[in-house]
Amino acid sequence: MSSFGDHLKVHLLGESHGQLVGVLLEGLPAGVPVDAKAIQAQLERRRPAQSAVTSQRRERDPLTISTGVHEGRTSGAPLLMTTTNTDVDSSVYSALKPRPGHSDLGGHLKFFGHADPRGAGHFGGRLTWGLVAAGALARQALDVFGIRIVAYTERIGAHHITQEPSFDDAVRLVDSNEVRCPDDALAQRMRKDILDARKGGDSLGGAVRCRIQGLPAGLGGYHARSFESRMSLMLFGIPAVKAVGFGLGHELATMTGSQANDPIGLVQGAPQALTNRQGGVVGGLTDGSEVSLLATFKPTASILTPQDTVDLESNAPAKLTIKGRHDPCIVPRAVPVVENAVALVLLDLLLERLGEEGFQRRLLG
Ligand SMILES: Cc1cc2nc3c(=O)[nH]c(=O)nc-3n(C[C@H](O)[C@H](O)[C@H](O)COP(=O)(O)O)c2cc1C
Repeated sequence: MSSFGDHLKVHLLGESHGQLVGVLLEGLPAGVPVDAKAIQAQLERRRPAQSAVTSQRRERDPLTISTGVHEGRTSGAPLLMTTTNTDVDSSVYSALKPRPGHSDLGGHLKFFGHADPRGAGHFGGRLTWGLVAAGALARQALDVFGIRIVAYTERIGAHHITQEPSFDDAVRLVDSNEVRCPDDALAQRMRKDILDARKGGDSLGGAVRCRIQGLPAGLGGYHARSFESRMSLMLFGIPAVKAVGFGLGHELATMTGSQANDPIGLVQGAPQALTNRQGGVVGGLTDGSEVSLLATFKPTASILTPQDTVDLESNAPAKLTIKGRHDPCIVPRAVPVVENAVALVLLDLLLERLGEEGFQRRLLG
């Protein structure tokens, strides 16, 4: 199933080289203002062929909203958003020679040879169009509650941010360079390494930091209903995400309790964590401080260097030379994917906390 969410249900549709990709939303509260231009602006940030460090597949990705909107606001009915696939070259994909690191072999075995192999079919990164479209709409509801989200490139290959930018600087600088790293000097080194990797027939991985301000305390729940569990379900649904961390994440393993705990103090008379090493989530619940998470992306699987595989027809070892247009590093395009996908989980959790009616009363004032 390609569906997420308990109260806001998100269903992803389509195939990379089929007629269209899209998203169907159910449970979206009525009355959310729909700004199609703002949604398209987020889609532009995800679009391929936007710079030298992305895939050169030329898709314009125009948004069509077919249902669920009346007089500029959500109507409470299921809402469908789609875009057509236009720049498709399926001749370079073979179901019979699975790409190492890609979904081809697993898809072939799970679906008994019937999965659509063209551009990875329903597995492909192209399906994240729907996450961005839906998330950009969810943000229009979150805006009313003063909830702000920013994501940016924290790491690409050997280069990583060492000094965390302020939230406002991150918002201001994230789109100022092609790799979406708010430190421009670092961004130039990352860019060069991506282009060098591509030239050498290879690819790079990295990590996207996402930070959220303005969340109320108490979002999430016990154990498997924790904020981290619900958020991770979505983040691991983004193709090529191989690790998710909150706050200092893996680094916490190297620290002592006295180094890792966030001391609690009074800020304007209210108890609050004074530092943010745990990422704003403790006991599975938001505590009212900034939420910070990290999604780690593996290097793009489709590389031009010849690789070992098996010919599924003859069941014999084979060499694979991949053609086609691919992202030499997924991270620059994944930044808006993470930023908008996160909004879907936040809206779902907010609906859980406030209830549909409570949410609508706050939304409509
Ligand atoms: C925005 C985006 C773009 C992607 N572009 C490519 C690509 O050009 N080539 C490729 O091999 N994988 C690409 N991927 C990743 C694959 O879809 C993914 O690695 C594959 O489906 C296997 O899933 P897994 O890596 O989660 O195990 C992209 C992912 C995203 C999020």
